Amino acid sequence: MQRVWITGAEGHVGTALTGILDCMEYRLMTTDINEVDITNLSQVIQYVRVNRPDVIINCAGLSDAEYCENHIDEAYKVNAIGVRNIALAAQEVCAKVIHISTDDVFDLQSELPYNEFDETHPKTIYGKSKEAGEKFLMQLNNKFTIIRSSWIYGIGRDFVDKVLKCVGKQTELEVADNQYAVPTSSDELAKLICHFIDHEEYGIYHAVCKGSCSRYEFAQAILEYTNNTDKLTLKPVEGRATYSVLDNMMLRLNGIEEPADWKVVLKDYLNKSGGME
Ligand SMILES: NC(=O)c1ccc[n+]([C@@H]2O[C@H](COP(=O)([O-])OP(=O)(O)OC[C@H]3O[C@@H](n4cnc5c(N)ncnc54)[C@H](OP(=O)(O)O)[C@@H]3O)[C@@H](O)[C@H]2O)c1
Repeated sequence: MQRVWITGAEGHVGTALTGILDCMEYRLMTTDINEVDITNLSQVIQYVRVNRPDVIINCAGLSDAEYCENHIDEAYKVNAIGVRNIALAAQEVCAKVIHISTDDVFDLQSELPYNEFDETHPKTIYGKSKEAGEKFLMQLNNKFTIIRSSWIYGIGRDFVDKVLKCVGKQTELEVADNQYAVPTSSDELAKLICHFIDHEEYGIYHAVCKGSCSRYEFAQAILEYTNNTDKLTLKPVEGRATYSVLDNMMLRLNGIEEPADWKVVLKDYLNKSGGME
């Protein structure tokens, strides 16, 4: 039975992953910051020496881009040094590392979807710190899978939750209509992460749902699928123009099933959960 350690287990991706991984098939170990702080090298090494995982799935990270912009040291400490610590500890016990990264490692100024062979060129502190984490992992561990995704939602505080919380509290919400990416549910992502536990197809993978949309279209869909279009008016506004649609080229090249269409997945998620935290 493979021993699988999930860090950041209480976040969106960590929660979804813990929910679908079969305890009969794997010996699961889950921690969040209160049990193991990934920025603390001796804590991470100690945990790995005692528990000897075969696979480490790093779902821990600082994912709030605005917060990272205002807390630069903390962003690098978690998103870069934290990943270095995991890579070093994993190397000691020959564990495989599956690490979650982001579309923000690109410059977000393209007009075409980014594939895994495109050069990274992050513009934000969040993106730069995540890119630094990717580099540490690639340099320090030869059994790595980096999975980049975008606009992840699931149980917890996220954009879906933010829009629905405005319903009934205010009549209008401003949403950028010049920012494009792909909404991806943490459940779809978790299904894909599971694939990599049992396969050795190392490398960098983009993993987003099919299709793409603007933030404004994402908000529209959230209201439509919850029958709330008449309760909240969306006002399209110009934010910082960004395009960060990812192309799942490596999934295609390796014959791995891609996540489903973002609209289908969102509708299903809202039907099942209601979308609120
Ligand atoms: N959310 C997105 O749209 C998105 C898109 C692309 C990629 N990603 C990446 O995917 C990963 C998971 O994202 P997510 O949406 O699941 O994030 P999330 O919900 O914020 O979960 C991250 C978890 O990591 C924990 N954590 C923070 N600092 C830690 C530390 N020093 N040691 C151990 N745990 C720590 C957090 O705890 P606290 O809540 O207590 O801080 C939280 O439980 C992140 O690396 C993120 O960069 C996210």
